[in-house]
Amino acid sequence: MSPHLPDAHKVPSVDQLDRLRAVTPMYDAVVDEVDGRRIRVGGDWLTDFASCNYLGFDLDEEIITAAERAVRRWGTHPGWSRLLGSPRLYPQIEERLAELLGAPDTLVLPTITHIHMSVLPALAGSGAVFVEAGAHKTIYDGGSYARGLGARLHRWHADDPDELVRLLRSADTAHPRVVCLDGVNSMTGNIPDLPALAKICREWGALLYVDDAHGFGVIGERGDGSPTPYGTRGNAVVRHCAETYDDVVLVGGFSKAYSALLAFVAVPTALKERLKLAAPPYLYSGPSPVHSLAAVLAGFDVNEARGEQLRHTLHRLTARVLAHLRSLGAHTPNRDQTPVIELPLSPGHDLADVARLLWRRGVYVTLAAYPLVPRGQVGFRVQLTSLHTDEQVGHLNSVLTELDELGALRRADA
Ligand SMILES: Cc1ncc(COP(=O)(O)O)c(C=O)c1O
Repeated sequence: MSPHLPDAHKVPSVDQLDRLRAVTPMYDAVVDEVDGRRIRVGGDWLTDFASCNYLGFDLDEEIITAAERAVRRWGTHPGWSRLLGSPRLYPQIEERLAELLGAPDTLVLPTITHIHMSVLPALAGSGAVFVEAGAHKTIYDGGSYARGLGARLHRWHADDPDELVRLLRSADTAHPRVVCLDGVNSMTGNIPDLPALAKICREWGALLYVDDAHGFGVIGERGDGSPTPYGTRGNAVVRHCAETYDDVVLVGGFSKAYSALLAFVAVPTALKERLKLAAPPYLYSGPSPVHSLAAVLAGFDVNEARGEQLRHTLHRLTARVLAHLRSLGAHTPNRDQTPVIELPLSPGHDLADVARLLWRRGVYVTLAAYPLVPRGQVGFRVQLTSLHTDEQVGHLNSVLTELDELGALRRADA
């Protein structure tokens, strides 16, 4: 979820958590059982549209079997930080990932949050970080940490590239400058104009740092034969936009499309070697569990064998929801048909009422409540995965119709 930046530095109070819980059981829920994309919370079964397991790898038999086998061989958990020792699975992942991305090299760490909090400050040094206003909260946190270590922190808006140019022009060129944003945006689902931004960054000697948590596994390189607008191979936004990795740092994660606890940064080998000492999680943090490492390797195989088919299903289901919203005249910012569909409420509608109706109809979503998002963005977000059934998507559409008839969904023409 992108940060409500003016308050993003404040630690939310326990009261706020209580208030969020009072809105709906969809906050801080305990899930008792999973059956495909259905989940049981207490006595209620709901269809899960809050998961980001876009390719359905979380329940893929081939991946589960590979993970079980690896745990038998390696035990449940490596006991070392990566600097002390990496099971062979790590270099296997880094090599295959570099090949998939077409990147010079890759370094993997447990989460994207670890990467933003460690790699971003290492890249920025005592220079400047420029965070796009709709970027994910964890990028902003990494930028704040970099500021604590001596960098300057600025904010810019993707729809105003001149603002970025003005900021870059006034920055001190003696020190590094790092421009950060989401790839597929975590709220809107939209893909940034990477070539235009990379051009600006190169002109001004800055590094472009892109977090494609939601794009990796979903969007990829495009060619004449791409069966969907996603392109093929799921090799993320840089390849999707036909960009290069020159002065572009791609960050991504396996915890969404690949359903495993691991994240990566694509960098040249010399920088990777530097990060092994400069990024504290490589030295000091516990590693990813073995089953996640094995799930990633098996995920590469499944991606190669069945990825296009899974992305085809994912796109078909997503397009069905988007077409339905269009037919209702309801607004979503999603214009790139990625499986992240944000639905802001129309003014005056109470999220608690909407959440209650969704729960009664058995639809589980990601709620975007104030103060987690600005008041104007209050609403909810649904994510599609290739494991949803047509029947489940049909039911979601009928509940969206009901909400629309109540006037709860913002109008496309408002
Ligand atoms: C764009 C983006 N970046 C980072 C994260 C956090 O990733 P991780 O769980 O790997 O720290 C998320 C999670 O929702 C995200 O959407």
